[in-house]
Amino acid sequence: MAVILDYAVFLLVSLLLPSHRVRVNSEPVQDKQALLSFLSQTPHENRIQWNASDSACNWVGVGCSPDNSSVYTLRLPGAGLVGPIPPNTIGNLSQLRVLSLRSNRLSGEIPSDFSNLTLLRSLYLQSNEFSSQFPGSVTRMTRLTRLDISSNNFSGTIPFSVNNLTHLTGLFLENNRFSGNLPSINPGNLDAFNVSNNLLNGSVPKSLSKFPASAFAGNLDLCGGPLPPCEPFFPSPAPSPYGSQPPPTSVNKKSNKRLSTAAIVGIAVACAVALFLLLLCFLMCLRRRRRQRPAKHPKPTGAVAARAVGSTEAGTSSSKDDITGGSAEAERNKLVFFEGGVYSFDLEDLLRASAEVLGKGSVGTSYKAVLEEGTTVVVKRLKDVVVSKREFELQMEALGKIKNENVVALRAFYFSKDEKLLVYDFMPAGSLSALLHGSRGSGRTPLDWDNRMRIALSAARGLSYLHVAENVVHGNIKSSNVLLRPDHDAAVSDFGLNPLFGTSTPPHRVAGYRAPEVVETRKVTYKSDVYSFGVLLLELLTGKAPNQASLGEEGIDLPRWVQSVVREEWTAEVFDVELMRYHNIEEEMVQLLQIAMTCVSIVPDQRPAMPDVVRMIEEMNRSETDDGLRQSSDDPSKGSDGHTPPPESRTPPKALTP
Ligand SMILES: *[C@@H]1O[C@H](CO)[C@@H](O)[C@H](O)[C@H]1NC(C)=O
Ligand SMILES: *[C@@H]1O[C@H](CO)[C@@H](O)[C@H](O)[C@H]1NC(C)=O
Ligand SMILES: *[C@@H]1O[C@H](CO)[C@@H](O)[C@H](O)[C@H]1NC(C)=O
Ligand SMILES: *[C@@H]1O[C@H](CO)[C@@H](O)[C@H](O)[C@H]1NC(C)=O
Ligand SMILES: *[C@@H]1O[C@H](CO)[C@@H](O)[C@H](O)[C@H]1NC(C)=O
Ligand SMILES: *[C@@H]1O[C@H](CO)[C@@H](O)[C@H](O)[C@H]1NC(C)=O
Ligand SMILES: *[C@@H]1O[C@H](CO)[C@@H](O)[C@H](O)[C@H]1NC(C)=O
Ligand SMILES: *[C@@H]1O[C@H](CO)[C@@H](O)[C@H](O)[C@H]1NC(C)=O
Repeated sequence: MAVILDYAVFLLVSLLLPSHRVRVNSEPVQDKQALLSFLSQTPHENRIQWNASDSACNWVGVGCSPDNSSVYTLRLPGAGLVGPIPPNTIGNLSQLRVLSLRSNRLSGEIPSDFSNLTLLRSLYLQSNEFSSQFPGSVTRMTRLTRLDISSNNFSGTIPFSVNNLTHLTGLFLENNRFSGNLPSINPGNLDAFNVSNNLLNGSVPKSLSKFPASAFAGNLDLCGGPLPPCEPFFPSPAPSPYGSQPPPTSVNKKSNKRLSTAAIVGIAVACAVALFLLLLCFLMCLRRRRRQRPAKHPKPTGAVAARAVGSTEAGTSSSKDDITGGSAEAERNKLVFFEGGVYSFDLEDLLRASAEVLGKGSVGTSYKAVLEEGTTVVVKRLKDVVVSKREFELQMEALGKIKNENVVALRAFYFSKDEKLLVYDFMPAGSLSALLHGSRGSGRTPLDWDNRMRIALSAARGLSYLHVAENVVHGNIKSSNVLLRPDHDAAVSDFGLNPLFGTSTPPHRVAGYRAPEVVETRKVTYKSDVYSFGVLLLELLTGKAPNQASLGEEGIDLPRWVQSVVREEWTAEVFDVELMRYHNIEEEMVQLLQIAMTCVSIVPDQRPAMPDVVRMIEEMNRSETDDGLRQSSDDPSKGSDGHTPPPESRTPPKALTP
């Protein structure tokens, strides 16, 4: 009986023992290795005593899967952990669901192998000393629901790829040094969010505006949503020097934000000083204008300036209301995109974009608009449009289908009773006008001859394409409408808008480029485009803006100035001093000058057609620099090889027959 009992006990034990052994063996061997490796490389307080001969599943802070085959949770809050997380340790815990290392003194970067923690649901790293960009590995943890990296020293921008975390319900980024704009974070189920006390600026995206103001407080310059409204997308015209008060919105915003009286007093003093300076400026301008008639600045002519001032007084408040308050209108009038475009945003996105004035032109004001998702476009706000919506749309359709590498693509338009917008590609390299005239004499890199030739040819090609392939008159050729592509070729912008303005307003409100006959007929033609292009070539050659005060005499334009200099004595005086440093380019300069002079013939019929202009430039170049146009060269000595111009080319330019 005892034997039988013993046997039974033996059986029982032998039955139980293997299973016991299996249980012991089923501990997470690899994870244990990784954990031990982590602890041995990371200084910590003594109360974490992980017994290497025990199962890791028994350790303080470690939780395992039901079958003990892997570590599911690791919680070591306030454990006095110091220094960076060593690579190949925690990142090896590939089955980890919850990781909490909050309230330690961990520093440095989040190791990149954290991207292997694809099953992680919760990540708590707050109250440490991590300092790096937003950890890229985190955006791969696509199952994350809670992410708290607050109260660290993270910096850089918050990436749009946070949207990868589609299951996120809580995102805590406060008390760091994140900067830039807030991306439009929209994981759907987000119910807790905080980015307070960072260095963020720009508008609060709509997707986040449901969170309270305290979630955004203490940043550099956030606005919108629960915070005071942003400056409207279209800033009202600069306060006129006639002592009108600054726009009320900006005042409200400032005083809401900074409540200390000292700050308010400071602002008041600053305002007073600014107002005084403005007045001073205005008075000086008045005086100067009285002394020298032709405007000092090439772009805004007297007429334009007067208009701008007029609209300041009359139009400010109403136009602001139109754009921000007229949402019913906006609903009915959507932003219309053309086929083949790459953009997808709506009018609201556009209105929320941060905007910066690029320039006030003759047909309206251009803005650079940076959308929330980082897209940058140019928005042109047209003024004085007279045509009906139907006519406007027809013209836009014609312009929207124009696709040429030397023509800036029109991507979208918007038409409402009060607002007409055009959306173009943004060209970061800027305009020819800025390149030629911007900060002269202040040690900038001058535009070299090869690049000037390249711009002349590519702009001619763009214009020729408009004329021949699309039957479109550009109508507004000037150096600020010739934009530089990244490859240094040029593209023409702002084409074909004249039909929108009717004949009551003079086309070409910038006089310097206007063909003489246009003053009377008020109609732009292919031939008047050619004239304007000739002026543009002269501008490239002389470095002088048309109609600029430095031309000397009152009322003289660039073509007549060139003629007068050339007639007196053919000197290098006519050419841009910045070109004098390049050698062996005289012959080319003279050739281009001849082409320019035929373009600016007084009689329209004597001007060549644009395709002929293209051909003339191509041919002059082919014979001289052996296709050097297409390579951008920094070598000033490159060009025609060394022979001085023949004496006959030093005579005043004769008309070339096209
Ligand atoms: C972590 O994983 C890597 C790659 O699988 C391996 O080479 C390394 O030894 C592991 N580290 C530890 C501490 O287990
Ligand atoms: C570690 O665990 C083993 C087995 O569980 C035990 O015998 C040993 O005493 C423990 N060591 C310490 C320091 O707790
Ligand atoms: C897993 O480990 C824990 C702690 O050591 C233990 O209590 C539990 O019984 C183990 N479970 C299995 C299925 O082995
Ligand atoms: C982590 O992922 C990388 C590649 O994504 C892989 O090479 C590495 O072995 C992984 N480490 C672990 C511990 O799984
Ligand atoms: C977003 O998640 C996918 C996997 O779902 C991953 O392949 C991709 O790299 C992630 N993007 C970023 C920016 O992390
Ligand atoms: C935070 O990081 C900045 C640099 O990004 C550094 O200058 C600063 O000392 C860091 N602060 C702390 C508390 O580590
Ligand atoms: C935000 O700040 C950055 C850097 O300080 C600056 O470049 C950017 O223009 C700012 N954006 C806005 C909308 O203020
Ligand atoms: C955001 O964090 C700040 C600082 O920790 C806190 O004062 C504020 O109440 C928080 N706001 C929300 C909505 O959680």
